Amino acid sequence: MCGIVGYAGERSAKDIIIDGLKKLEYRGYDSSGIALCTGGSLTVRKCKGRIANLEEAIAKEQLGSGLGIGHTRWATHGAPSDLNAHPHTNGDGSIAVVHNGIIENFVELKEWLARDYGVQFRSETDTEVIAHLIGIFYSGDLLDAVYKAVEHMRGAYALGVVCSKEPDKIVAVRKDSPLVVGLGEGCNFIASDIPALLKHVRRIYLIENNEVVLLTKDEVKLFDAQRNEVKREVFHVTWDADAAEKEGYDHFMIKEIHEQPKGLYETLHRRLDENSRIRLDGISMTKEDIERFSKVYIVACGTAYHAGLVGKYIIEKLAKIPVEVDVASEFRYRDPFVDDKTLFIAISQSGETLDTLAALREAKRKGARVLSVVNVVGSSVARESDDVFYTWAGPEIAVASTKAYTTQLMCMYLLALYMGSEKGVLSREEYDSYIEELGRLPELLQQILDQEDAIHQLAKQLYKRQQVFFIGRGLDSSVSYEGSLKLKEISYTNSFAIAAGELKHGTIALIEQDTLVVALATQDFLFEKMLSNIQEVKARGAYVLSIAKENNEGIERQSDHVIYIPHCRDELSPILTVVPLQILAYYVAKLRGCDIDKPKNLAKSVTVE
Ligand code: AGP
Repeated sequence: MCGIVGYAGERSAKDIIIDGLKKLEYRGYDSSGIALCTGGSLTVRKCKGRIANLEEAIAKEQLGSGLGIGHTRWATHGAPSDLNAHPHTNGDGSIAVVHNGIIENFVELKEWLARDYGVQFRSETDTEVIAHLIGIFYSGDLLDAVYKAVEHMRGAYALGVVCSKEPDKIVAVRKDSPLVVGLGEGCNFIASDIPALLKHVRRIYLIENNEVVLLTKDEVKLFDAQRNEVKREVFHVTWDADAAEKEGYDHFMIKEIHEQPKGLYETLHRRLDENSRIRLDGISMTKEDIERFSKVYIVACGTAYHAGLVGKYIIEKLAKIPVEVDVASEFRYRDPFVDDKTLFIAISQSGETLDTLAALREAKRKGARVLSVVNVVGSSVARESDDVFYTWAGPEIAVASTKAYTTQLMCMYLLALYMGSEKGVLSREEYDSYIEELGRLPELLQQILDQEDAIHQLAKQLYKRQQVFFIGRGLDSSVSYEGSLKLKEISYTNSFAIAAGELKHGTIALIEQDTLVVALATQDFLFEKMLSNIQEVKARGAYVLSIAKENNEGIERQSDHVIYIPHCRDELSPILTVVPLQILAYYVAKLRGCDIDKPKNLAKSVTVE
């Protein structure tokens, strides 16, 4: 949550920072601001709303400066407002701070600063406390003041700090919130994420926890918590800046939906050798390790958690190891039974989700072997795991996750097949047949994308519904959670997912004339049972949209509308079933006039608890 950018160089800091912030708007977008070192003082401009508002507000100002910091906010402490927007400054306005994260002891610090130093606070934020703290410790050396201030802070933070008395420096710190440094020629940058810098640099330092950065236009120095200088290898970004652009699509979400065949292909083929055997290059887990695992925990949040639900089913079926799936925010606080025979799988697109990271650390502390399924290379989750299984989805910008989910599922299949085969519980024939079918999925998924117009037309009939239920059995029930989340997060439709067999234990009371029920019926062995569940809701007047496989046309008699997915084995259908639900959610949101890539109250990367 929140994005920060800083620049030191010869060019206009204002333009570079605003441009970088736009690339980070997915991290939060309720207010933004900038602080520039201008002729011995700091000029701070900030305002509520999108970055476009800030840009417009300062468009006519001559803010000539080659050094500054900027911020796009996702509010945690204090509502979105001009005053609560970052940067925040100390009492005399000589120090400005941008912050991503949460200072947990800010109330305590606030009281102390007010009582002992007479500080008067202007905002409701936790961040303002940091600016005052640094101001109090400042005696001519910004780096030293920042070190002293962080000693008093508890919580998660990535900070960018500037001071009018040292106008050639930016000091930055990272603790549990992402931070990177971009290395240019005669200029250097800080940012929360690499896309903000790709226009300018490809050479990056990935900053580690508790490290402090001292940056000028000519030099970057990194220090550890004990103030020792540390050396870091340069990370070269190879992916294309265009991958993070819309390329003619109206929204990133629909572009990313269309990128799924490619993402699946890449994720699969980067893990197959010439004999179509799965190779886990770079993953140190051995056959003996796999045989030793008595249990698997899959822990994640949101969509990644939904991928974990499918992962449980597949790993138990193919690798015959019991699996528990947990939402990360619960796992970390419930003293789970984890030991050195546990394989802990963290799933995260961003690799920066704080709850997932904390759960991972907890599992590691208890001796588990940690493998993560991550999209963002070099992210915190990836770096703190024993092994990383990367999804090759490419940058996912839309807040609503689509291609990350389907590539996460691909990883789950590959892992399950690998473990099952290493354990000797999966026959060679079965293994080969799965690999062959996985290879067909990109093409089958494309066939669903080809139905986009038809789904758009259907959305025109359905987009005004206020309430939607998603039902399914077995793997379809896992996908129904994801379908429901997609719809609610981008179209603000009140939607609810439930295992179809559970309906009659209470929820069916809500079904009435014309209630929209999306019934997922892709599991052949549960098909008859699903038909009964559809009849139950039809009998109460529901409008039923079914998702079924092509060979199950009989479902038309029970449904008001059917979307077909191509035939594939039951276990693999989630990768296909979710696609019409993504497209439907997209068009419903579009017809409702929603801000699809940046839904209200959300952010792409959830780096607070
Ligand atoms: C999905 O559409 C969401 N916006 C959200 O649930 C997301 O999947 C979740 O926050 C986890 O993020 P991560 O994969 O980056 O850890």
